[in-house]
Amino acid sequence: MTMAGVEDIAVTAPADGVRQIALDRPKVRNALRTQTLREIAAALGDWAGDDAVHCVVVTGGETVFAAGADIKEMAAKDAVDVLLDERPRHWQAIREFPKPLVAAVNCYALGGGCELAMHCDVIVAGEGAHFGQPEVNLGLIPGGGGTQRLTRALGKAKAMQVVLAAEFLTAAEAVDAGLVGEVVPDGDTLARALAIAGTIAAKPPLAVRLAKEAVLKAWELPLAEGLAHERRAYTLLFSTDDRREGVAAFLEKRPPRFTGR
Ligand code: CAA
Repeated sequence: MTMAGVEDIAVTAPADGVRQIALDRPKVRNALRTQTLREIAAALGDWAGDDAVHCVVVTGGETVFAAGADIKEMAAKDAVDVLLDERPRHWQAIREFPKPLVAAVNCYALGGGCELAMHCDVIVAGEGAHFGQPEVNLGLIPGGGGTQRLTRALGKAKAMQVVLAAEFLTAAEAVDAGLVGEVVPDGDTLARALAIAGTIAAKPPLAVRLAKEAVLKAWELPLAEGLAHERRAYTLLFSTDDRREGVAAFLEKRPPRFTGR
């Protein structure tokens, strides 16, 4: 399946309820020019309200995840251009996508590429993957959430090393630090990400959606507010058909048939 007017990404439907975005500019190491972000945000915008879509996998293919913002595109910009830039809107659309995003990361996830991976809810990395925020080498700092998400994931000391010294984390370091959920052989990254996405896609979607929202609140809210948020979401789910079906199926020792209601 391809979408009209889409050049920088390949969009497919690899399994029931699962959609895949493959970054597709290998010649420039999948550098995230504005058009790429616009296309990702547009695809997610379409799927946010599509009940047939339950989970999305984001990959860059076998050779690279993404080498960051497109440095050529950035070169001529001044602060006013960046202030007026549409990019933050696209990052916001990715951030606010209500369904799970699973990243399959091979090789490099650098700068905006690392930030894109960190926007995903689950990250599967190939053994040869590297994560980094080398913007300081360009006289910049991360601008897509890197200083905030990396610090929450790694803690201050390690995040400082990655952001200030532009040192890359290996996949093994990233999984030890909690940035990545799982490391697999490089050739298995996408298959494992698709397997996780398939498992999620078979779950009751309203519970998945509220679970994603609640876990993300753990990053944003003080504990008491996070706990209150969780309790409200938990209570709300008691009125869904899928909660009734899930409990009934368990008690009747049969597979559940979820409807998304
Ligand atoms: N933007 C534009 N072009 C890029 C690019 C990028 N981020 N990364 C790589 N390319 C291009 C190169 O210019 C090169 O193009 P040509 O063939 O026309 O010369 C091509 O991709 C291949 O690059 P390399 O020869 O360098 O490939 P490599 O495999 O030897 O190295 C790499 C890969 C380690 C990713 C290296 O390319 C690299 O370090 N890239 C830049 C990484 C970086 O600094 N990212 C941060 C960008 S700023 C940012 O991300 C800010 C933000 O979001 C807010």
